[in-house]
Order: sequence, then structure tokens, then C-alpha cells
Amino acid sequence: MENKIRWGILSTANIARKAMIPALQESTLAEVTAVASRDAGKARTFAAELGIPKAYGSYEALLADPEIDAIYNPLPNHLHKDWTIQAAEAGKHILCEKPLALSVEDVQAMIDDAVANGVQLIEAFMYRHHPRIAAARQMLHEGKIGELKTIETEFTFKLDNFSDIRYQPQMGGGALLDVGCYCVSISRLMAGREPVAVQARAHWAPTGVDDQLTGILDFGDGLLAHFDCGINQAGRQRGLLAGTEGTLELPMTFNMGLVETLIHEAHETGATRVHTYPPVNMYRLLAEDFMGAIAGEAPAFPIEDALGNMRTLQALLASARQNGQPVAP
Ligand SMILES: NC(=O)c1ccc[n+]([C@@H]2O[C@H](COP(=O)([O-])OP(=O)(O)OC[C@H]3O[C@@H](n4cnc5c(N)ncnc54)[C@H](OP(=O)(O)O)[C@@H]3O)[C@@H](O)[C@H]2O)c1
Repeated sequence: MENKIRWGILSTANIARKAMIPALQESTLAEVTAVASRDAGKARTFAAELGIPKAYGSYEALLADPEIDAIYNPLPNHLHKDWTIQAAEAGKHILCEKPLALSVEDVQAMIDDAVANGVQLIEAFMYRHHPRIAAARQMLHEGKIGELKTIETEFTFKLDNFSDIRYQPQMGGGALLDVGCYCVSISRLMAGREPVAVQARAHWAPTGVDDQLTGILDFGDGLLAHFDCGINQAGRQRGLLAGTEGTLELPMTFNMGLVETLIHEAHETGATRVHTYPPVNMYRLLAEDFMGAIAGEAPAFPIEDALGNMRTLQALLASARQNGQPVAP
């Protein structure tokens, strides 16, 4: 018991309720000790519903609790930076939701602060922890589809509620930062390098955020990625890696389903092999990787990756604001 990491949850966010708290409660390494909300009553109700022992009526009170080792930060995007820094300064390790911040400078400040305070900081891209992702990277590495030429990804869903945080420009809303960040993350991961130039076109919602964006990432040496993301249309997720000798397809690329598949098609023979993976909780795997880092192991994905992702996201938004002019990240 005493070796468990004691978690504090910063806010009563939907994603905490639906995904991260159940994942932590499933892990033998974690104990969800406390939740904080701006509203004490809300914190108490949430804690009672989810079986969390302590409820705080302010984020400050949670950070002041000496019985908390790690913080899960699922605040709206514009608050990630300040509360991560406050948590680091209180000596807490932080698992922070994606995107880590709204600018490269802010991501760098968060990393510097975590290093200065000797705490772990990880960006919560859970999809990277699905065994299918490691398998796809291994197959690429082994040349199973020849030379990688094109990466194609999609992530959309329909959000009609204009008061949602995703529709607020001042909160770091927009399709690119909400779901396009996954497309950018997986494209960079599979490419194994950073893009040299990007372009994007967007549609802007009445609130001012991009509710739909299509982007191109040029990785140089004949490798291109293209993606589309949106919060204004029916849900779609797709991932396709196309090489000189075949393709790898990752259906429902970013969200866990009951069973996950990776489809390998060889160009020469047309033969298709479907690799099937048993259900896993990607949020638990992510949290356990983070807890391993707290214990001194190397995390699967170093936090510096968040700098590359943010640099690319910023360049894409800059290009979209200039009607698709190429931008070097
Ligand atoms: N990894 C994933 O699978 C995944 C999925 C969905 C979302 N996310 C990320 O998680 C974060 C939260 O998303 P969500 O959909 O869970 O959001 P949400 O339900 O709107 O929760 C955000 C929480 O932040 C707190 N908050 C503090 N200041 C606020 C303000 N000015 N306005 C609104 N809320 C404020 C609120 O909690 P209190 O009222 O209790 O203080 C609220 O419940 C985002 O960064 C998002 O990108 C990740």
C-alpha cells in the first residue's frame, strides 16, 4: 500500500471521470486520493460518486496536501501551463492533458520548471501506449511496407455545444488543438523526425476557433503526411501508413475499442494480414508509464516530444491563418 502513488485530480473534468480515474483505480500502482474543484460542493459530489476519499474546494488546497505525490491536470488548455507549474513548485509530479500548452515557449517553461523542481512531467497522449502502435513502428522499422512515403490520418467528431471549452479561442479551443494534435503526434512518431514545412487550410467557427482543419506535413526526403480534423462533423478516425511495398492501416486510430486491429497489406501479392490485439486500457498504460518514470525508469516518450508537437501545431495554425501559405516549424 505505502508504495502506491497517491494521485490528486485537478478539477472535475469529464475526461477525469470517464477515463483517467477509472484507469488509475484499475492500476495496482495508484491510489486516487483527492479531487479538487473551484466549487467545494461539486468536488464533494464527484468524490462521493467515484469513491475518492478527499475533496477540496480549491486547486491550491489540493497542491498543499503533503499526502499527494502526483497530479492529473485535465484543465482547459489555457490553464495547463500555470497549474502544472504551480504543481511542480509544490513538489508534485504532473501528468498533463494534451496539448501541453498553447505555445512552444510555454511548453519549454513547463519542462524547465519540472526539471528545476525534480518532478516528472508527461503529456497525456494515451494512444501511444497501445501495443498496436509499438507493433506498427516495429513493422516500419523491419521494412514490412518498404520505404514510408505517405501518412494519412483523420480525427473528427461533432460538437454542437458552442459553450464547450473547445469553442473558446481564449481557452486554446479549436479542432487542431483538440483532435488534430493526435494526427500531428502520430505522424511525427511514425515519421521518426520533424517536418521541414507545413501547410493548412481551416474553416472558422462563429466563436473564432478552427472547427475544421486540413493539414500537410512535409518531412523531406519524399515523406509527406496529410490529415484532417474537425469538431463540426460526424466522428471519423483513420490512420494509414503507405510505403513503397505495402500499407499498414490502424482503424479507430486513437480511441480504444474492444478489439484493436492492425491491417498489413503487401503490395506485390495483395495479401492482407490482420493482426488483432486484446482490449487494453491505454489510460492505465499511460499512467503506469508515468508512475514508472516517478520510480526512476525512462518514460516511453520523453517530454521533449511535446516541444516538437507544439512547434508543428503552431506552424499549422499560422499557415491556416495565412490561407495555406507554407510555414517552417
Ligand atoms: N486524452 C484524452 O483522451 C482526452 C479526452 C478529452 C479531453 N482531453 C483533454 O482534457 C482537458 C479537459 O477536457 P474535458 O473535455 O474533460 O473538459 P471539461 O469537462 O470541460 O473539464 C474541464 C474542467 O476544468 C475546470 N475549469 C477550471 N477553469 C475553468 C474554466 N474557466 N472553464 C471551464 N472549466 C474550467 C472545471 O472543473 P471544476 O469546475 O471542477 O473546477 C472543468 O470541469 C483538455 O485539455 C482536453 O484536451 C483529453
